[in-house]
Amino acid sequence: MNPISIRPITGVLGAEIDGIDLATPLDEHSRRAITQGFAEHSVLVFRDQSLSIQQLEAFALQLGEFGDTPFITPLDDHPHVLAVAREADEAGPLFGGSWHSDWSFQPTPPSATILYGRDVPDAGGDTLFSNQYLAYETLSDAMKQMLAGLHGVHSAKRSYGPGAVFGQPDPNAAMHIQGSEEALAKQSHPLVCTHPVTGRKLLFINDVYTIGIEGFTGPESAALLGYLLGHCRDVNFQCRVRWEPGTLTMWDNRCVQHHAINDYSGQRREMYRVTLAGERPT
Ligand code: SIN
Repeated sequence: MNPISIRPITGVLGAEIDGIDLATPLDEHSRRAITQGFAEHSVLVFRDQSLSIQQLEAFALQLGEFGDTPFITPLDDHPHVLAVAREADEAGPLFGGSWHSDWSFQPTPPSATILYGRDVPDAGGDTLFSNQYLAYETLSDAMKQMLAGLHGVHSAKRSYGPGAVFGQPDPNAAMHIQGSEEALAKQSHPLVCTHPVTGRKLLFINDVYTIGIEGFTGPESAALLGYLLGHCRDVNFQCRVRWEPGTLTMWDNRCVQHHAINDYSGQRREMYRVTLAGERPT
């Protein structure tokens, strides 16, 4: 392979990293490049990787332990690997098709998600990412003071609860998603968290799973979250990843939100996804 090189995608988020073959065990130099690059850029894109499911799992396990994946049936014999798939003729809601960070309703949401493109549209099906350090840092001091000590209420109920978007399995969908009453559980996380690796502060909320602010009335939560959630996805905080077959992208759910784009009707898309276990946001 060529020497390892890192090229930022935008001025604020993401980098393409070349010169590492993820199918083979990482040497110390490659592992350091990945962990340092991840801390600096939060979204890392590796092109032209050729990975079996076992090699994808082995790569992930060199960086951490698997996270828990609720509500979605994983691959046979690979309980930690999801096929994030959509057939060319599917018309239902798109998995991941709104701004979110993965499983923020869990007590310890995943630190990272790793997504590997196996069958990708010729054009379309990109993924957007938004930098939540910047979302925090660009707030006024007065707003930062107001948010300090507040907690967001997170829940999967709007996605996977009874009657929710993915509440019932869709027989026409490539993914088997089964909502349940468990989605009604609520979990509090600070609105402003400190990243355990970088020590930087960030806003930890998202459109899909943050349903309110502790101690606020519904209208108060809606007003404040409405402003903050719009701010979180300011185009000036973003990067966009265009997928090719063999692209692997890993992102840091602790400081990044993402959004899959629903613009590839008539084309098939199939990705494999694993998450890495995280810690309680503080
Ligand atoms: C996800 O939200 O994990 C899926 C992202 C994607 O399909 O691009």
